[in-house]
Amino acid sequence: MSHHIVEVQNLTHTYPDGTAAVRGISFRIHHGESVAVVGANGAGKSTLLLHLNGYLTPQSGTVRIGDFPLTRETLRDIRRTVGMIFQDPDDQLFMPTVYEDVAFGPLNLGLPLEEVEQRVQKALMRVGVEHLRERPPYKLSGGEKRAVSIATVLAMSPDILVMDEPSSNLDPRARRTLIELLAGFQHTKIIATHDLDMVLDLCSRTIVIREGQIMADGPTTEIFQNDQLLEECHLEKPMRMQACPLCNRPSI
Ligand SMILES: Nc1ncnc2c1ncn2[C@@H]1O[C@H](COP(=O)(O)OP(=O)(O)OP(=O)(O)O)[C@@H](O)[C@H]1O
Ligand SMILES: [Mg+2]
Repeated sequence: MSHHIVEVQNLTHTYPDGTAAVRGISFRIHHGESVAVVGANGAGKSTLLLHLNGYLTPQSGTVRIGDFPLTRETLRDIRRTVGMIFQDPDDQLFMPTVYEDVAFGPLNLGLPLEEVEQRVQKALMRVGVEHLRERPPYKLSGGEKRAVSIATVLAMSPDILVMDEPSSNLDPRARRTLIELLAGFQHTKIIATHDLDMVLDLCSRTIVIREGQIMADGPTTEIFQNDQLLEECHLEKPMRMQACPLCNRPSI
């Protein structure tokens, strides 16, 4: 199973304008783990995640996905292994119809048309948007675009799912469906999010980032009970862990 380990060592990333977004981050994630990456706006979560499927390549430090260090030569294999859901669905959807967007990856793998069709159908069904199949993605609502983005990645059957704010823009029911879908996904998941209640549902481990550095990495429930850490990192306890305003008792 070692081929699905995600290992980041001493990673740094400075944007061309001099912004140091990632400053010496290291962690190791094993096959089957479900890990949240949390932190305030601008903490460096998206910049970090963009390294995990090679959208950005390390300026210094290393990223390893299983047996492969991430380099230009291994990019193709790594992108098959790691499915990335971008923070902005407009970065993910570019074809004239939803169908073509979801079929794009499987067609690129050279799969037979019949299998492509099956994969598209299954992926659209899993996120509940079969009815959008012939629609142009750019005319969809924010939440519909998000669901289609997730379908484009599911259609590739990745071993590792990397998701940047997957629950943003979803209505409560679509959010719940997403959480159930992800809970049923047995492979490795890495989720950057501000939705700490979703983290409680899905991730037993949480990495907290502040100003491009890791401030904590450990069991989610311990991290969410550390009031000082949450305060320093501009985070708020999940709603479920906050005291009820009527009876003053937390629900968990
Ligand atoms: N293309 C870019 N050029 C210059 N600076 C950038 C660029 N993209 C991001 N940054 C900066 O890098 C830092 C980290 O940004 P990043 O998008 O990784 O944060 P984030 O934790 O994902 O935030 P959010 O919660 O708002 O999505 C911020 O200071 C941001 O302004
Ligand atoms: Mg971000």
